[in-house]
Amino acid sequence: MASLVLGIETSCDETAAAVLRRESDGRGHILSNLVLSQTQDHAPYGGVVPEIAARAHVSHLDGLIARAMSEAGLRFEDLDGVAATAGPGLLGGVIVGLTTAKAIALAHDKPLLAVNHLEGHALTARLLQPCAFPYLLLLISGGHTQFQIVAGVGRYRRLGTTIDDALGEAFDKVAKLLGLGYPGGPQVERQARAGDPRRFDFPRPLKGRRDCNFSFSGLKTAVRETVHGLGSLSPQDVADVCASFEAAVAETMADRLRMAVALFREAHPEVARPALIVAGGVAANLKLRSVFEEAAAAHGFDLIVPPAALCTDNAAMIAWAGAERLALGLTDDLAVAARARWPLDQNQPPAYGAGKLGAKA
Ligand code: KG4
Ligand code: ZN
Repeated sequence: MASLVLGIETSCDETAAAVLRRESDGRGHILSNLVLSQTQDHAPYGGVVPEIAARAHVSHLDGLIARAMSEAGLRFEDLDGVAATAGPGLLGGVIVGLTTAKAIALAHDKPLLAVNHLEGHALTARLLQPCAFPYLLLLISGGHTQFQIVAGVGRYRRLGTTIDDALGEAFDKVAKLLGLGYPGGPQVERQARAGDPRRFDFPRPLKGRRDCNFSFSGLKTAVRETVHGLGSLSPQDVADVCASFEAAVAETMADRLRMAVALFREAHPEVARPALIVAGGVAANLKLRSVFEEAAAAHGFDLIVPPAALCTDNAAMIAWAGAERLALGLTDDLAVAARARWPLDQNQPPAYGAGKLGAKA
């Protein structure tokens, strides 16, 4: 059966609301998709301040939901379900979104879908095109860096994760060190274009290891030491540091991808041509994009990178994960609690430092 679902996202510094329809054959249609970024509110502090984020969600969410519903041409009575991020993320913000969803669900007698934000990222590709389970997911955002085998809705196996910083976080820290703005990823990428990737020989963390975990703190330290050693930086120095950092990341990602595709093949020899899905803000990086393209081509995977607006935090992905869960009857009780931590693969032990509280998901 087709379903109309409202999605709400408030787990970090974006207030977002979206409405979509999932057809009975599994196709998705976005009817509205609104994101209000709080970047300006947090910029003076150099990072996301949880209390400011939660208050901003309270101020903006109701109005944003009203706009999303009106753009979709629907009333709450028309909905088949109300989905909201229930974690992981900044608890104050998650509570704002989840409580709002509960209120709408209760008032209009609709099913509630308490969505794992990471499941939103993991399932987005299926909103845009048919994409059969199982597939390999690489999630690279400001808060997460992980490989997952997505075997089905609610069925995940983590192949690797970061043991310290997330990849987006590493880009942001390098940008900060060089006095470039926040978020740093796009600035580092722009600078790198004019730089020499061979000038600095930064480490390639965990290269050659027989797993597909990540570690970026040693690389970050090496960049910091180089920058301090240079003293005052010329524009060429900045460009060369960025290009050399990006080259180290690209080589590391190529190495980790080799391991991940091998582990996927081992786990699912029956899948002739699997998909490799890359999600999260760092997927926008063109140098890394070429690494993913090469790896996919070399190992017989179809690369799918959802468009940036659906790759970075948004509510359409939450509505979609909710619609997928609704289609399977996986609805939630109104008593469900918000969770600061919520790994997709509950069977894996947490990696030290990964999915830090307060980090973006
Ligand atoms: O997925 P996202 O929008 O937010 C969450 O973290 O959930 O990802 C944001 C991260 C930031 O760390 C940002 O610096 C990074 O993605 N990023 C990039 C690029 N664009 C965004 N990193 C490298 N190259 C880019 N072009
Ligand atoms: Zn996210």
